[in-house]
Formats: sequence, structure tokens, C-alpha cells
Amino acid sequence: MANLLCIAVVLVVASFLPVSQAADSKSSFEDNFSIMWSEDHFKTSEDGQIWYLSLDKETGCGFQTKQRYRFGWFSMKLKLVGGDSAGVVTAYYMCTENGAGPERDELDFEFLGNRTGEPYLIQTNIYKNGTGGREMRHMLWFDPTEDFHTYSILWNNHQIVYFVDRVPVRVFKNTDYTNNFFPNEKPMYLFSSIWNADDWATRGGLEKTDWKKAPFVSSYKDFSVEACQWEDPYPACVSTTTTNWWDQYSAWHLSGDQKMDFAWVERNLVIYDYCKDSKRYPTLPEECSLSPWD
Ligand SMILES: *[C@@H]1O[C@H](CO)[C@@H](O)[C@H](O)[C@H]1NC(C)=O
Ligand SMILES: *[C@@H]1O[C@H](CO)[C@@H](O)[C@H](O)[C@H]1NC(C)=O
Ligand SMILES: *[C@@H]1O[C@H](CO)[C@@H](O)[C@H](O)[C@H]1NC(C)=O
Repeated sequence: MANLLCIAVVLVVASFLPVSQAADSKSSFEDNFSIMWSEDHFKTSEDGQIWYLSLDKETGCGFQTKQRYRFGWFSMKLKLVGGDSAGVVTAYYMCTENGAGPERDELDFEFLGNRTGEPYLIQTNIYKNGTGGREMRHMLWFDPTEDFHTYSILWNNHQIVYFVDRVPVRVFKNTDYTNNFFPNEKPMYLFSSIWNADDWATRGGLEKTDWKKAPFVSSYKDFSVEACQWEDPYPACVSTTTTNWWDQYSAWHLSGDQKMDFAWVERNLVIYDYCKDSKRYPTLPEECSLSPWD
């Protein structure tokens, strides 16, 4: 942990991050979301602005947006299960459908719990037409169980960028190469869920969930999206470049400040990158040759 603290100091000096935007007008959960499963494992604060998903031995819980979107900026504040959360995964993701269908596109953030005092990891992944295998894992520079932090996805036809507190931690580029592994045709819902994955999540499955510590609770607030809301029939959300900032030239690349932050993340926080895993991929997927700096 000591070197994590040092890193945190460096980050503060190295970057002046824009203040996060004001959340959407205070709408209620039901305006924009529905529960996917186990209504009784979902709660809100009295004013309705903080949402709690809980996992116990019986079941977890999940919610999804009512709307679908194609391209945009998607953001939410999460505070993850504290204490002993080994084996517990909180997922926060976008997907074209509710379920693991064979033709789905998906953009994932997964928060992998740990034993008390041991660090969480975040895993990100991308699916196109049912194929994933594009995992990266990162450490965080703070304890994500102590406070709310903002996790965001920027998605346009040129790049997908994962942000933590406005720091870009992962950049996934589109080149229209022959394999065309870039989700850009289908609209996606935004989801979040909490579930048990002690067969793989913590130290590769060695650390099991301690059910005596249940229920495990993740908290959410300040959902905000600036995106093209999908309306049937296809193709909706096509040429929006003139009006939507997330589709404009400046959002096709990292800015200078973002590049500095991203370089710092690359140097200090990456634990796993499928593009470096030549054991798993003797021939690396084509997108691995693309530069995040372009
Ligand atoms: C949330 O729901 C309201 C009411 O249905 C709707 O007007 C608004 O566009 C939705 N917001 C988002 C971000 O989808
Ligand atoms: C998507 O995957 C399915 C198999 O799961 C395949 O039949 C289909 O041709 C694929 N679609 C595209 C556009 O590649
Ligand atoms: C959990 O903690 C152990 C020990 O510090 C660490 O090796 C591991 O990467 C951490 N995270 C996960 C998800 O296993």
C-alpha cells in the first residue's frame, strides 16, 4: 500500500482534472432504470438518490437502463463492498442485451473484491458479436470502498475510453481493420450487478467468499449520460457529429492532459493486458497493433 500512496501524490501533482459535471436532474430510479432480478436485494436511500445492491448466499441483484444508447458519455459514482469482499464481483457495464447472448456487444467494468485490506482490482473487457477475451486489469490509486468514485465510458466510432475519476485508464481504438473488432453498430443498455464469482475473481479463485460477512453491498449515485438515445428503426444515432461533443473530432483522441494521465496509468497500474499475453495469443488480435496515442 505504501507505494500506492506515493503514486497518488504523483497523480495529484501531474494532473488537474476537470471537475465532474453536475449530475442529471434528480430523477428517481424508476424513471430510467429497472431491476433485472431480486427486487428484494435492492434499496435506495430515503431521498432516493443513493442505490444499494446486495449479495447474500441466496442471490445477487442487478439493474439496467430502460433506454438504449449508441455512442456517448456514460458515468456513475460507485462505492464498492468494503471489508472482506473476496469472491464478490460488482459489474458495471454496457451491453446490447440482457444476458450473455451469442451475438452481444459489451463494454465492461468489473470490480474484483478482496480480503480485508487487500486491494481491489478492476477488470475491463470488450465483446463484439459474442466474442470477448479482451481483458485488462488495473490497480486503483485509492480504496474504492471508502468513498464514491466516478467510473465513466466514452464511446464513439473512433475509440472507447474507460475513465476512473476522469483519468483515462484504458483506450480501445477502431481502425476498421479487417477483423473489425469494434462495437459500433448496435445500441446498448447500461447495467450494474453484484454477484458471486469466487471460482475465479480473487487470486484466481483461491480466495473464497466468506458468507458469514454477507450481505455484501455496493452503492451507486449520480448516474449521468450524454448520449444518443436510440429510437427504432435502425439506423438511429448515425450522423450526429455536428451537435454531440462525444462524436466530435476532439473526442476521437485523448487530449494532451489525458495522455499524461494515461501514460502514468500505463506505467504504474496495469496488472494484466491481453495484448501482452503472447502465451494466450500466439498471434495477437489485430487491434493490439493500434496506438492509443493517435
Ligand atoms: C430518464 O427518464 C426520463 C423520463 O422518462 C427521460 O425524459 C430521460 O431522457 C431519461 N434520461 C436518460 C439519461 O435516459
Ligand atoms: C455473429 O456471430 C454469429 C455466431 O455466433 C455468426 O453466425 C454471425 O455471422 C456473426 N455476425 C457477424 C456480423 O459477424
Ligand atoms: C487481492 O489481494 C492479493 C494479495 O494482495 C493480490 O495478489 C490480488 O491481486 C488482489 N486482487 C485480486 C482480485 O485477486
